[in-house]
Amino acid sequence: MQRPDNPLWWQQPSSSERPTLTPELHQKLTALRQHLHAHPELSLQEKSTAAFVQDKLTELGIPFVSGVGGHGIVATLTRGHAQSRVGLRADMDALPITEDTGLPYASKNPGVMHACGHDGHTASLLGAAALLAADTSWSGTVDFIFQPAEEGYGGSRAMVAAGLFERFPMQRVFGFHNWPGLSTGTIAVHDGVVMASGGRITITIDGHAGHAGMPHLTRDPVMAAGHLIVALQSIVSRSVDPLDTAVLSLCTLEGGTARNQIAGRVVIGGTLRYHREAVKDTILEAIERTCAGIATSFGVKVTPEIVIGVGVVINTPVEAGLARLAADKVQAELRRDLAPSMAGEDFAHYLSRRPGAFVWIGNGELRDGAELHGPRYDFNDAILPVASGWMAEVAKAALASN
Ligand code: NI
Repeated sequence: MQRPDNPLWWQQPSSSERPTLTPELHQKLTALRQHLHAHPELSLQEKSTAAFVQDKLTELGIPFVSGVGGHGIVATLTRGHAQSRVGLRADMDALPITEDTGLPYASKNPGVMHACGHDGHTASLLGAAALLAADTSWSGTVDFIFQPAEEGYGGSRAMVAAGLFERFPMQRVFGFHNWPGLSTGTIAVHDGVVMASGGRITITIDGHAGHAGMPHLTRDPVMAAGHLIVALQSIVSRSVDPLDTAVLSLCTLEGGTARNQIAGRVVIGGTLRYHREAVKDTILEAIERTCAGIATSFGVKVTPEIVIGVGVVINTPVEAGLARLAADKVQAELRRDLAPSMAGEDFAHYLSRRPGAFVWIGNGELRDGAELHGPRYDFNDAILPVASGWMAEVAKAALASN
């Protein structure tokens, strides 16, 4: 996007009432979002995106600190004398996916795509900053968290490790994810669990390679893998309480190089998802037990390695209430009846340290291939006013409730 001729284009008419995006600011945010969409960067590589965000914050006259946990940025607005402080978060990274939208602003970076709408989240947070900068009706401090590396690369963990909550001592934190399949601009606020935690599973089976015609001289890891896969699929059905939720999916299987040789090693890869930490413990224990049993039965060595993610996204009750209040302020349709998702979000890492809420904002109709992480996905610019407005309103509601 061109740098605007008039840097004052951000300025909203000042109002003590509820400020909303002017059509002009909506148009500017749309152009900004589409610029980000055309220039996606992978997790940990968000250098130009961070520079672009810093440029916009400078135009808005909002001070910021860059390099917080990698390419992370925290901008801070203080107004009045209230001591209360709240954080609003957006993520900035894109995915290693080849875009197939045919849009005029499609990715110019081959093989990299904003297929999760983090371009829209970033634009929405800049919009919230513009709204709050022009709004004289609040008192306190708002921290705008622009987070890198959400897509499995520990961005929230890195920002927290870089002292996010000590350097910017916010009492609460809020964020949102756009949600394809939920009608445009509808806001879903969960009571409690919003999204799953999970882990990456790698199981290595070491046997003894040998001639396919003389299996008695080998220890066959392929055979053991077959039994192990079936046995592991009984964990969710037999070990987890049926009233709990869990998924154990084994998705990759590698082993063997010749059709007439029994392989020496097989590696199974998969993923684990759950909504309650106690369920994780049950599953991990059952995986260990099952692997040990298969190892004994087949005379092979079975080594499970499970890397656990950042935790379950759970809204705290008071903050879920503030999120609903803010949805009402922006006159969005509110849904409280949606089931949690088995997808994960590293916002959980903030929620494990501060109370807060993470909501879904409807991205509109779910078209083929346009689901999150799909090659034809696109963030719906029509939801920028509700997204920016909700973030600004939830910050104000949080500051006022202290
Ligand atoms: Ni995402």
